[in-house]
Amino acid sequence: MDWNPRTIIEEVRRIVGGSGADDEKLQRVCDLLAERVPHYDWVGFYLVNPEKERELVLGPYTGAATEHTRIPFGRGVCGRAAAQRRTVVVGDVTREDNYLACSAATKAEIVTPVFHSGAMVGQIDIDSHTTDPFTPRDRELLDALRPLVAPLLHP
Ligand code: SME
Repeated sequence: MDWNPRTIIEEVRRIVGGSGADDEKLQRVCDLLAERVPHYDWVGFYLVNPEKERELVLGPYTGAATEHTRIPFGRGVCGRAAAQRRTVVVGDVTREDNYLACSAATKAEIVTPVFHSGAMVGQIDIDSHTTDPFTPRDRELLDALRPLVAPLLHP
């Protein structure tokens, strides 16, 4: 199945501009990404916890339940992306020491931080059951999605 970042970006734009609570919109975005992109097997948002310094809290997601509902900055792929304020791509999680396993089926992960008015407010986390699945197309998609979802990422 082929997928087109531009079509997905347009659909996300419609979701964000449509009706519903912000967390419902985020849930729809997760569902859409997981449905449209064949190598996205878990899609979720982590929010920067405003009540505890340097901690991420799990927000809406699509895929298997995870025990990692709170992640300190620096821990795992998500915590590293938050601490370094940059996108982290892990093509093969079995070669990674600083990794928090969510599901045994996960082979690769991409995490990208989201900024709103200059502050980091959360991140988009995507797990894949395929090794080395991410290409510049994924970057293109995530780079376009970050500013669209930024206003929705709050507790
Ligand atoms: N694998 C992540 C933890 C979150 S789960 O993938 C949902 C990490 O290493 O930070």
